[in-house]
Amino acid sequence: MKVAPSILSADFGNLARDVAEICESGCDLVHVDVMDGHFVPNLTIGPVVVSAVAKAATKPLDIHLMVENNTFFVDLFAPLKPEYISFHIEEEKHPHRLIQKIRSYGIKPSIVLNPNTIPEELEYILGDLDMVLLMSVNPGFGGQSFIDTVIPKAMKLDEMRKRLNPKCLIEVDGGVSDQNIKALKDAGVDVVVAGSYVFKHKDRAQAIKSLQI
Ligand code: DX5
Ligand code: ZN
Repeated sequence: MKVAPSILSADFGNLARDVAEICESGCDLVHVDVMDGHFVPNLTIGPVVVSAVAKAATKPLDIHLMVENNTFFVDLFAPLKPEYISFHIEEEKHPHRLIQKIRSYGIKPSIVLNPNTIPEELEYILGDLDMVLLMSVNPGFGGQSFIDTVIPKAMKLDEMRKRLNPKCLIEVDGGVSDQNIKALKDAGVDVVVAGSYVFKHKDRAQAIKSLQI
């Protein structure tokens, strides 16, 4: 299991220090939550701050867009060369076109599904994706409780990707901890995002390790 700590739970007064620390602590990706105050009722960071994150990080960036105008934000963040850009299917009229745009920048495209969005939405697009991100909380805030219907959903998506695109990764975001990591692993999940669990732990390296099962 790969682990992507979400910097939403970092100390923003010491962001470069916290980003460097999680990278030294053995994380696999650095998860960056971009919120615009429209798609979700919260507002986070733009490319000026994320470029400082990119400088401090020794691991690739995993950018999660929670915004209304995906194309505008893809163009804004692409110069920072993240490994992945994920966008919400609920907010995109032309997902296929946007996937090609992300790929044209040399970035791996990923689609995010809200807790109520069915994986079958991806039937005709899964073959074009490098990753699918399943939300296990409602997007907008860190520190929420894990919604456990993501487990059967990940199992269903695992069946679909075996048939349509075995290389496509499954990532889960929200409320992940040592309490649900085994169930996520058994369901076929490849990458977990963990914000409060990693940043509130007194030994962050140990917290990350406990999820890398
Ligand atoms: C929620 C974000 C998550 C969040 C996860 O909208 O997408 O990445 O930071 O935080 P925890 O792990 O605390 O639920
Ligand atoms: Zn996220």
